[in-house]
Amino acid sequence: MKALVARSYGPLEELEFTDLPTPVPGPGQLLVRMEAASINAVDKVLVTGSMREAIPATHPFVPGVDISGTVEAVGEGSTRFVVGDPVIAWNSIPSGALAEYALISDAPSAARRPAALTPAQGAALPTGALTAAALLDITRVPLHGSVLIVGASGGVGSFTVQLAKRAGLTVLAGGRDSDSDFLHRLGADHTLDYRAGDLAQAAHRLVPGGVDAVIDLAHAGPALATTAAAAKPGGRLVSPLGGPAAFDREVSAAYGGTRAPEGRLEALAAQAARGTLRIEIDSDYSFGQARQALLDYAANHIRGKVTVTF
Ligand SMILES: NC(=O)c1ccc[n+]([C@@H]2O[C@H](COP(=O)([O-])OP(=O)(O)OC[C@H]3O[C@@H](n4cnc5c(N)ncnc54)[C@H](OP(=O)(O)O)[C@@H]3O)[C@@H](O)[C@H]2O)c1
Repeated sequence: MKALVARSYGPLEELEFTDLPTPVPGPGQLLVRMEAASINAVDKVLVTGSMREAIPATHPFVPGVDISGTVEAVGEGSTRFVVGDPVIAWNSIPSGALAEYALISDAPSAARRPAALTPAQGAALPTGALTAAALLDITRVPLHGSVLIVGASGGVGSFTVQLAKRAGLTVLAGGRDSDSDFLHRLGADHTLDYRAGDLAQAAHRLVPGGVDAVIDLAHAGPALATTAAAAKPGGRLVSPLGGPAAFDREVSAAYGGTRAPEGRLEALAAQAARGTLRIEIDSDYSFGQARQALLDYAANHIRGKVTVTF
């Protein structure tokens, strides 16, 4: 099968198309004929090896954690899918989406793709929506509370804004001024231009005393203190990237990442199919342009997701 491959850790430019043996599904696995994939920040991390101690890749490595395709073969003991089923999946570190065929686990990280979703829409959903839902789980803001979402226009942020609004929260969305309409369409009550000044001060002007929680999708480590300052005393800072255990004014920290509890990916896909959850695709590339998709994702301002259609 044709695959976009990293032979060793290195820059995205060194990815090359090559032939690899088509994988064979083992027990509990499914072989998927790929129809679409989407690009995520972790793809670059795994290709370059920038966090190889924590998340190592094995070579030859095929990037791509978001999968959308058709079940081609079913491994022993797999019971939820049959050959021919349209499927989407979050594949985490094993990756493999940027190839003609990919292996996935028959697990809650895989779900049937509703007929109303295109392959690209299916691929744009798993990491972004599952991570948004997982971060809101640990945010624990009560109904009618307020949340500042930093990095709101990106792949995770575009889902986080929608799910936070639907949870009954007042949503302050941090993005570029030019993304204001986009963020309001997703459900943001207020938009804040992170390039125009201090986000925390802007948030305090809108919610005097501070928001109940900040979900920061853009900063890591000590830099999170800047946005944690938008939270009220005793509030919460949530991040998928990790940082200090707590902040000034007894603002607590909660760190978490993508999770796929039983039934959640199905539920999110069903909401998208009904049109109650928008899937924002910034740009779609052909499989032959997959390396360029990774390069452009890493270099450009993206609204929502970048997808690759086979
Ligand atoms: N731990 C996990 O399991 C997990 C899972 C998924 C994602 N993540 C991480 O979560 C982060 C967000 O993921 P994503 O897929 O949403 O990435 P993304 O699509 O690249 O979005 C990142 C967003 O952050 C914004 N941003 C960048 N610098 C900023 C700054 N200084 N101030 C305010 N906003 C800024 C970007 O806006 P501009 O385009 O305007 O710069 C963009 O909207 C990534 O770092 C990713 O690695 C972790």
